[in-house]
Amino acid sequence: MHDLDATLQRIAAAPDPAALDAERVAALGKSGWVTALLKTLGQMSPDERQVKGPEIQGQRARIADAIEQRKAELDAAELERKLATERLDLTLPAADTPMGSVHPVSQVMDELAEIFADLGFAVAEGPEIESDWYNFTALNMPETHPARAMHDTFYVAPRDGVEGTFVLRTHTSPVQIRAMQQLGAPLRVIAPGRVYRSDSDATHTPMFHQVEGLVVDKGITMAHLKWTLETFLKAFFERDDIAIRLRPSYFPFTEPSAEVDVGWSMENGRRVVGGSEGWMEVLGSGMVQPRVLAAAGLDPDEWQGFAFGTGIDRLAMLKYGMNDLRQFFDGDLRWLKHYGFSALAVPTLSAGVGA
Ligand code: PHE
Repeated sequence: MHDLDATLQRIAAAPDPAALDAERVAALGKSGWVTALLKTLGQMSPDERQVKGPEIQGQRARIADAIEQRKAELDAAELERKLATERLDLTLPAADTPMGSVHPVSQVMDELAEIFADLGFAVAEGPEIESDWYNFTALNMPETHPARAMHDTFYVAPRDGVEGTFVLRTHTSPVQIRAMQQLGAPLRVIAPGRVYRSDSDATHTPMFHQVEGLVVDKGITMAHLKWTLETFLKAFFERDDIAIRLRPSYFPFTEPSAEVDVGWSMENGRRVVGGSEGWMEVLGSGMVQPRVLAAAGLDPDEWQGFAFGTGIDRLAMLKYGMNDLRQFFDGDLRWLKHYGFSALAVPTLSAGVGA
């Protein structure tokens, strides 16, 4: 004989969901005792059924309610347990966790983006496998142009079904064309990224990084170029005594063109940027060649622009004092630990971009 009170007590005391389910099966399951009682109703006389029916149904309901209530209690206890044991203290220091560091090239790219964002420049991008047209032709270097030979270009092997000649971009200047096509004028962008030339020694690697700058607007002159570069170099090297010198030069995509030297001085036996004991070349620049504006779909009678380009790796070496470019790409963890930056030290103008 099954006792309702004993069943209800066991349900209330069920220690876990499995025990609770066992109680459910024993009472309400296919061969459970309440189910068996329900089956007896069929053989009863109508009078008897009228008395027994509600009684048995009442038992069934009380057991079902008790199961539901116990289930809710067990669920709540389980949630409490999880909240207590699976707690994550976000304020704990991460000192025990091995941490990577930000590569100086990435750091300098972040610094450049920060400095130029403050001057109203957006960041533009282009592909590293670039068409011959973007890398050369649109930049006023037609097929026979001698400057093409100076670039030590890596050519991409032709592929069936792919028309045209492709190269690993030899500079970031093709992004000038892409930016003008995509954004039109007026425009202010920088374009940092990887470039490739077949060259390798202590100061050259086959892959290196450049940043391109481009401003297109009305009434743009060399004065805007000079001010922009001076302002950039002061912010980047975090010194006010930055002197620059523009030397006439030649690039097919700028006219006139100027190479930009920055003054250096000796500090603790090391050559540092600032002062003017000597000069070193840091940038190529000039007014955008009208033919380049036209190739990108802009009317050169309406728009003028200036452009500049420089090596990011070189900027990093000058600012942070490395002397062998090849080590940048060796992946030596000791070098990265020494020269790398904390992932949390995000460069900002107010904190000093060299944070
Ligand atoms: N693309 C040139 C180089 O790689 C640099 C440059 C960029 C010069 C923009 C002028 C204007 O040497």
